Amino acid sequence: MAEVRIRNTDERIQGEEKVSAFLAEQGVLYEHWNPSKLPAELQNKFVLSDEEKQQVLETYDTEIRDLASRRGYQTWDIITLSEATPNLDELLKKFEQVHTHTEDEVRAITAGKGIFIIKGSDEVGYFDVELEAGDVISVPENKPHFFTLMDNKQIVAVRLFIETEGWIAHPFQDPSFKQS
Ligand SMILES: [Fe+2]
Repeated sequence: MAEVRIRNTDERIQGEEKVSAFLAEQGVLYEHWNPSKLPAELQNKFVLSDEEKQQVLETYDTEIRDLASRRGYQTWDIITLSEATPNLDELLKKFEQVHTHTEDEVRAITAGKGIFIIKGSDEVGYFDVELEAGDVISVPENKPHFFTLMDNKQIVAVRLFIETEGWIAHPFQDPSFKQS
């Protein structure tokens, strides 16, 4: 289950109900898929063949189509990141810049872990959402954020998109953002 850490106060929010309520207040969609639906051999695999990616998409076909029909997503794919990803450190450096998009950024984690750092309301400031397998999140359009991996540096996630232009990252310069 996802956990939230508010950066200014170090306060942690745990438990599905509290996390969902907090994220809903911040305009962030949070849902949960059953991580054990994924075949056991894929639950801990972070380098996937095209067939295995297809297998992940087929496993969650109902969930994906349900989410897509509710929210207008037209396409979806699988992203994998791990130490085996070429230039992982450079890629992460590029990711770790606060930015916005003109469409929402949806990720359904199917294996591994990751963190979204999101700019919340003025009272809350930036907060981290730590995600694990089964967690589904959507960062609203135009909301400053970035994504990075956790210490284990491995993740598999489904991405859903409305249209290609919406994925472009627009840098968001924010003097109020503090690393860590
Ligand atoms: Fe993004």
